[in-house]
Amino acid sequence: MTADGPTAAPLLNVQIDGVWHQFPKGTRVIEACEKAGSYVPRYCYHKKLSSPGNCRMCLIEMGMPKMGPDRKPELGEDGKPIINWMPRPQISCAQDVAEGMGVRTTSPLVRECQRGVMEFLLINHPLDCPICDQAGECRLQEFSVEYGSAESRFLENKVKKPKAVELGPRVTLDDERCILCSRCIRFCKEIVHDDVLGFVDRGSHTILTAHPGKRLENNYSLNTVDICPVGALTNTDFRFKMRVWFLKETKSICTSCATGCNTVIGSREDIIYRQTPRENDAVNSAWMCDYGRLNFDYVASERRLLEPQILQNNKLAPADWKTTIAHAALQLKHFSTWQIGILASGRMTNEEMWLAARIAQALGTPWVDIVPRRGQGDDILLSEDRNPNTNGARLLGLTDEPGSRIPGMLDAIKMGQIQALFTLGENPVRLGLSHEMLGNMPAFIVMDILSNDATPHATALLPAAAFAEKRGTMINGKGRLQKMNRAVRQPGLARDDWEILRDVLQALTGSNSIYSLDDVFRQMSEAVPQLAGLTLSGISDLGVQVLNVEESPAPPSEPGAGEIERASVRAPVRAAR
Ligand code: SF4
Ligand code: SF4
Ligand code: FES
Repeated sequence: MTADGPTAAPLLNVQIDGVWHQFPKGTRVIEACEKAGSYVPRYCYHKKLSSPGNCRMCLIEMGMPKMGPDRKPELGEDGKPIINWMPRPQISCAQDVAEGMGVRTTSPLVRECQRGVMEFLLINHPLDCPICDQAGECRLQEFSVEYGSAESRFLENKVKKPKAVELGPRVTLDDERCILCSRCIRFCKEIVHDDVLGFVDRGSHTILTAHPGKRLENNYSLNTVDICPVGALTNTDFRFKMRVWFLKETKSICTSCATGCNTVIGSREDIIYRQTPRENDAVNSAWMCDYGRLNFDYVASERRLLEPQILQNNKLAPADWKTTIAHAALQLKHFSTWQIGILASGRMTNEEMWLAARIAQALGTPWVDIVPRRGQGDDILLSEDRNPNTNGARLLGLTDEPGSRIPGMLDAIKMGQIQALFTLGENPVRLGLSHEMLGNMPAFIVMDILSNDATPHATALLPAAAFAEKRGTMINGKGRLQKMNRAVRQPGLARDDWEILRDVLQALTGSNSIYSLDDVFRQMSEAVPQLAGLTLSGISDLGVQVLNVEESPAPPSEPGAGEIERASVRAPVRAAR
């Protein structure tokens, strides 16, 4: 047991570049050096994978305490152990720190080793940086500048290897660029348990390839591209589309399932080019699945709803936002509580859900729920729950059990009891409502991103923002509150969902106390015990745990939203056909 408790590892004294530090037992030497501010270059080492020690880029000088005749370390003038330096360099990635260990990361011997390793690695490298997708984030480029020599002594012809090999549906390999670090092989074997990649042939003719009859097609294949330190593995979708130094990087989260993997969105001039995982050990380690990573094409879809519209003379016609919101609110006010249904979505942010719940409360309708969305999960990251914010919907009172109120709502629509339906990012046709039913509904208010087979029946159409176009928070399947950020602007006249819902709420209740997304979050944190004391800007990039997953969230307390006055004027609803 240590002072920190029974589980804390004992601290060991280690000298790095002349300065003594303390590190917990079990710390890798390469990690200890980094923590001490002495970064050691590496290719094959990746902290989430095993360490084969095959690239030799992390060579350092190492020593252990000089022992006296009494078998105790001899102490120097500073009272610290005198180090006996080993005559040969050692790799720092495959061993742990030890008591009294000494490490040199910048000595002449280390610099000489680094220059030598770089020279060997570059012997057969094609040096096609100008056309390589990795340029700008390539470790070979970076370390060549920092640790290599300016000139090559190699006069022979470089070995030619296969180029543009389709390793799988999403990954393309350029074997000439491969430095044989084996990160991709180990990732597939150790993380995905899909032993698909390996090396064949000998010496400088060694190449990376998929085992006979196999393809790199698992749902995590694109992580190999992220961890490949050079441009050998490339993302087929991203290849040749954009130089990485032009990309704006926005920290966000994936919204394709309840795991909520942390991401970086790479965009330029309002176009998303790629998503890559962002390390968060509480959520996704350093990985994300291909399904979530590539699920952003729809943001630039031709089906995007671009302008608000209202039904006029039996035809949807463009209108300004003010008119459309007023139209939608008037339609909702026209009906009594049991005649209104709100079909919300587990893809909405907490802030949107909060406002949707306030609208439901103001209208007094019991008919509100989110549409459950399930798929096959795995035991790595992908969740069966394909809604990213089911926990938020529960916590904020939009549903007790996702989908439990939907059958009743659908029956009420079919029987004609529900006369006004407000859908928030969900398509009721997919739930079994016929086009005829929707076409006959006196008020069908649609807030969505894309047009679908239900939108032509809308009486008011509210074009909203996609995940990368807005800020907000979600609570993942493990109860972690996480932030998403805006990477690109909405197209056309589409607006941020929370603003649309705020305006509808204000048009219904007349109250006007929300001016920013931070105001919405403040309202939530004042009413929901699990969010108490939090602010939107105070949530870190790695999120904050707000729920135990087993915990069933208590419903929020009443925020005191003003009740609406039922419309005394005739609302412009569609006459039943
Ligand atoms: S393809 Fe990349 S990750 Fe795989 S062994 Fe070669 S250099 Fe390493
Ligand atoms: S596991 Fe889920 S959250 Fe993570 S990348 Fe895949 S779909 Fe997105
Ligand atoms: S990083 Fe240590 S041998 Fe490759």
